[in-house]
Amino acid sequence: MAQQPIVQAKGISKTFSGVRVLNKVNFDIYPGEVHALVGENGAGKSTLVKIIAGVHSPIEGTICLEGREVFFKSPHAAREAGIALIHQEPLTFQDLNVTENLYLGHTRGGGKPFINWKDLYKKTDALLETLNVRMRSRDPVRGMTIADQQMIEIASALSQNAKVIIMDEPTAALSHGEVKNLFGMIRQLKERGKALVFIGHRLDEILDISDKITVLRDGSLVGECPRAEADQDKIVHMMINRSFKELIVKESAPIGEVLLETRALSLPGEYNDINIKIRRGEIVGMAGLVGAGRSEVASAIFGTQPAVSGDIFIKGKKIVIKNPSIAMKNGIAMVSEDRARTGLLVAFSIKYNITFAILHKIASRFGFVRTKKEQELLSQYVKYLNIKMRDGDQRVKELSGGNQQKVVIAKWLLTESDVLILDEPTRGIDVGAKMEVYKLINELAKQGKAILMISSELPEILQLSDRVYVMCDGNITAEFNRDELDSQKIMAAASTGRQRSAS
Ligand SMILES: Nc1ncnc2c1ncn2[C@@H]1O[C@H](COP(=O)(O)OP(=O)(O)O)[C@@H](O)[C@H]1O
Ligand SMILES: [Mg+2]
Repeated sequence: MAQQPIVQAKGISKTFSGVRVLNKVNFDIYPGEVHALVGENGAGKSTLVKIIAGVHSPIEGTICLEGREVFFKSPHAAREAGIALIHQEPLTFQDLNVTENLYLGHTRGGGKPFINWKDLYKKTDALLETLNVRMRSRDPVRGMTIADQQMIEIASALSQNAKVIIMDEPTAALSHGEVKNLFGMIRQLKERGKALVFIGHRLDEILDISDKITVLRDGSLVGECPRAEADQDKIVHMMINRSFKELIVKESAPIGEVLLETRALSLPGEYNDINIKIRRGEIVGMAGLVGAGRSEVASAIFGTQPAVSGDIFIKGKKIVIKNPSIAMKNGIAMVSEDRARTGLLVAFSIKYNITFAILHKIASRFGFVRTKKEQELLSQYVKYLNIKMRDGDQRVKELSGGNQQKVVIAKWLLTESDVLILDEPTRGIDVGAKMEVYKLINELAKQGKAILMISSELPEILQLSDRVYVMCDGNITAEFNRDELDSQKIMAAASTGRQRSAS
């Protein structure tokens, strides 16, 4: 690892209309290293990297590049000096092809009035090949995924010999596979000695990709921490000055009659003899390791993959749930693990998604959607859920994971179901959004819903549940009441143990 930072930002402060958003922040970037920058929304991360990349100028502090103080008048000047900022929403030109996009910024100048396109196409293909990217030089950009367009931006930066590549929340709109792909690229760039800055929200991603983590809070530097000394708890604590556990507050709700019961549900190869009960107002945690059969049980209750034997009772009445529409008619809602695939129509608007599940409520007698009513319901729920968006017509795939999750929950809130199954409700969302989802889960219980919460995050299970079932290898291996909850007992039951204690 290099001894000298390539970029050194020292004592950087910035105000917008008199409001201080950065306060004497230091930040160093080294070649061959991924430096993650984290902090809650509004902490000043984007502003800091925009200052380094010449978009804004600081009111105090200095930027040194390879030991020499620099003043960038524009992003273009920073680019020429080797610092590239990759935007979350790529700034590609849809009507141009890959090569045209790559060289748009820097074909002019150099005193060469003619562009040798043949040469450029060749160069582009060579570059794409070294990067292991699937696209070709003449491919049109229109229709490409955001992930591919990010690749074009990265390739463009490399074609200009960028030494520092800064990515501001590059994974926000990417699928799991695309994130893996991007991380492969980041590792490759690191090996080539590039200096990288990665801004992100999801702590698992941060811990996966970074060598060093800097935390900002309210515009101030909280600290810098080598990856080897970091874990989720430590980073969360630095970000918000509280521990993750303290964020999850259980509110008590009156617990009523049994709303959902399963008796001897079995699906050979997936799960056997599943007997669970969930009461009105109760949050029932379902713990276990990945692959224990928890999501499969949820699929049986929601009808996406019915069990082959056993019965399901809703409010004491036996119901044969052959498909999700029967489940929904009987008041069961599910927020699934893979919200991008099953929970949301990501290519459609927020408005459409939220109202989709409840069209009957807002449709007029003649079958037209009453837009005024739709607008009312939408703004009511957006406010309630604190969803950050431009407007209701924005497409869901442009939202952050946390906001997407809130849209899914909003959708089901509107259906007024009695039983809600949440499968990994906070996976892949940032800490702030997690807190809001916890508040919602409490709120739903207080409204008298019966909640089954499948989660692999023990703090969530321990803090929120009234009762917990533990699954292992397709069996329920333990059941605990809230006052018996203990992480070691749960882990033991999730790996091998077989104990029953609650009634
Ligand atoms: N161009 C701008 N004009 C006015 N205020 C801004 C501008 N950019 C950012 N801010 C404000 O500065 C603060 C820090 O924002 P930002 O750097 O975007 O935070 P982060 O990227 O950590 O979420 C926020 O309060 C934001 O509203
Ligand atoms: Mg930002």
